[in-house]
Amino acid sequence: SADVVPQAAEDPLFGLMAAYKKDDDSKKVDLGIGAYRDDNAKPWVLPVVKAAEEQLRKDPNLNHEYLPIAGLADFTSASQKLILGKSSQAIAENRAFSIQAVSGTGSLHLGALFLARFYNPPAPDAKTIYVSTPTWANHNQIFTNVKLPMKSYPYFSKETKGLDFEGMSSTIESAPEGSIIVLHACAHNPTGVDPTNDQWQQLAQLMKRKSHFPFFDCAYQGFASGSLATDAWAINHFVEQGFEMMIAQSYAKNFGLYGERAGCFHFIAAPASDASDVAARVGSQLTLLQRSEISNPPAYGARVAALILNDEKLFAQWEEDLRTMSGRIKDMRKALRSKLEEKKTPGTWNHITDQIGMFSFTGMSEQQVARLREEFHVYMTKNGRISMAGLNTHNIDYFADSMNNVVRG
Ligand code: LMR
Repeated sequence: SADVVPQAAEDPLFGLMAAYKKDDDSKKVDLGIGAYRDDNAKPWVLPVVKAAEEQLRKDPNLNHEYLPIAGLADFTSASQKLILGKSSQAIAENRAFSIQAVSGTGSLHLGALFLARFYNPPAPDAKTIYVSTPTWANHNQIFTNVKLPMKSYPYFSKETKGLDFEGMSSTIESAPEGSIIVLHACAHNPTGVDPTNDQWQQLAQLMKRKSHFPFFDCAYQGFASGSLATDAWAINHFVEQGFEMMIAQSYAKNFGLYGERAGCFHFIAAPASDASDVAARVGSQLTLLQRSEISNPPAYGARVAALILNDEKLFAQWEEDLRTMSGRIKDMRKALRSKLEEKKTPGTWNHITDQIGMFSFTGMSEQQVARLREEFHVYMTKNGRISMAGLNTHNIDYFADSMNNVVRG
């Protein structure tokens, strides 16, 4: 009977969002969930999304029929070109299979489910999925949900507040041959710390030698640096090295389509004479899994994204919107760092501008985070992560003051 069902813990991030909403202090600051906010702390509907929605509304042929199981073809083909590049060898050789999924989480789940069923590494103990320490909390739930054994590799150095490249490489090196390695394509969540291009090249070499299987989580293409190509550099480097690999692509942040759950999952077969058959067979299984999981994906967000991705003018407007978001975040990084340095807040603050994307891993302790919340009405995750997009010209002084206060103790 249901009497035996234990109470599950509330999701920390969504719990934080609810606590922030309940707080009626006028100074409150929301640095919790990773969702872009404008300079007035308001959600921002991208102008290009508004333009695409306008076009959709005027389309007399629009209806509410089911999409195919694999999703909207205009969306999946454009997503493939966006992430792999228009002149990708993998696309030309027909060895990439793409299927629309329920944003990043759904793409990760579908990939994980497929791996749990079909992944067949050279050594049985290699059927283990490695994630970074720390990683996006949901990774742990998504992979354990499909019973993939999980392990982790070091990632963040507490001393430098940068990458622990040595720790990362040596754990990946000693993982059994053919292990699955989850990599954040750019703007690592929660740390904001990415490998350099040179480090990515070294990781690719190492993983090639060990026949590891890369599974990229790409939630910030274009949002992190402002350049779609720069943010997909690591993925493309791995594809060029001829890996068999997977990519989970989310459009929540870069289109600001959080609630529409638009995303795409990609499988790339390694170059070989039968690579397009492999991709087609894998695709057939993914399609079968998708049918039993969600039947077919949601249409609206994919339609909006497809319009933008397939239209030169809208695409250019999108790139501008991406620069607006990433530019504002970079300005906030600079402002926060210089305010802390002006106040001579104990510690070094260069990591705030060295880190990239939605988040900064400040280095604040759990106690400091708790004080910020209790005394200053500032909401952020316990691990010291702040969503940079929650800062703006109106609250940055208040936040820097509050942070200075708690760091001084
Ligand atoms: C976050 O980490 O804040 C975002 O990716 C939102 C989420 O779903 O966790």
